[in-house]
Amino acid sequence: MTSFWSSYITLLTVGTLVAVTWLLFATRKGERKGTTDQTMGHAFDGIEEYDNPLPKWWFWLFLGTVIFAVGYLALYPGLGNWKGVLPGYEEGWTGVNQYQKEMAKADEQYGPLFQKYAAMPIEEVAKQEQALKMGGRIFASNCSVCHGSDAKGAYGFPNLTDNDWLYGGEPETIKTTIMEGRKAAMPAWKDVIGEEGIKNTAAYVRSLSNLKAPEGVEVDLAEGQKIFQTNCVVCHGPEGKGVHAMGAPNLTDRVWLYGSSFAQVQQTLRHGRNGNMPAHKDFLGNDKAHLVAAYVYSLSNKATEK
Ligand code: HEC
Ligand code: HEC
Repeated sequence: MTSFWSSYITLLTVGTLVAVTWLLFATRKGERKGTTDQTMGHAFDGIEEYDNPLPKWWFWLFLGTVIFAVGYLALYPGLGNWKGVLPGYEEGWTGVNQYQKEMAKADEQYGPLFQKYAAMPIEEVAKQEQALKMGGRIFASNCSVCHGSDAKGAYGFPNLTDNDWLYGGEPETIKTTIMEGRKAAMPAWKDVIGEEGIKNTAAYVRSLSNLKAPEGVEVDLAEGQKIFQTNCVVCHGPEGKGVHAMGAPNLTDRVWLYGSSFAQVQQTLRHGRNGNMPAHKDFLGNDKAHLVAAYVYSLSNKATEK
């Protein structure tokens, strides 16, 4: 904490203590002994207040809390950067130090384990039961919010168990995805091919997965195919089977990130899609990313040796 904020907190705290103590004594003056039936002379909704002194117990309790506060703030850290007169702050009885100590202990205990697995190829790590348990726990606390606790994904968040990959399922590719993150760039087409083009191309794309246009909707599949060949093959490949380098999904496998309905596919074409997988290297670090990559790899390449 900077010395400005330290003195700010100190002044505010000490000032408040002084002020409430002053208030306590100031209002005690002029107090009459015993109880009276004289009122204060004001009424709220017909309720009047007797002019009685503060109850003794209340007065002493209040004073007690002030004395307690003064003692506490002298002994323990609390006033800005003041560390308290009790010895041992540096040795770690505070919450922060306790946390750091526990983290250091955990590093000591698990560090060698992390290092051992980090030195092994991901395919090998994926065969170790203990490593998968550790990876599974990292997944549960860092990845399940988006990919689901069973890693089966949801709308906009890919299923990681089905061996159908946007960016590739090779162990090192999975690790790169986790470390560096991914940003998908499916452009918006509404200004390029128009509504009619969107309708026909959506119908053509769905036909690649054997989905028919809804009853009563006139579509021109040949026109859709033409548009696809001109605009889409750079990323999705000549047969629409996807290109990992572009993160462009296979459009023929009935696995849909954004839904397969005629309306949804048109929506995808109209406005584009920009799925964003955040980079994790800064808060997971290499060793944990290695373990969780092995875990993800194992989900679609099950071969655990006991
Ligand atoms: C904030 C949400 C979010 C979190 C957290 C997240 N992901 Fe992702 N992840 C995504 C999205 C969205 C995509 C798809 C990106 C795209 O559309 O191109 C993705 C893609 C991936 C892919 C690529 C899948 C493929 O088919 O190639 C892998 C692997 C992956 N995530 C693993 C993980 C792991 C492991 C973690 C935890 C360390 C994690 N993700 C955390 C949102 C998230
Ligand atoms: C610049 C590369 C690029 C071009 C060109 C491109 N796409 Fe895409 N497309 C992508 C990417 C990347 C994604 C994945 C988006 C995401 O993960 O958020 C995608 C996603 C899709 C999806 C969603 C699939 C799903 O599983 O929900 C459809 C449908 C699609 N594209 C169709 C097309 C069509 C039709 C065209 C041509 C009019 C086209 N794309 C042109 C890169 C491209």
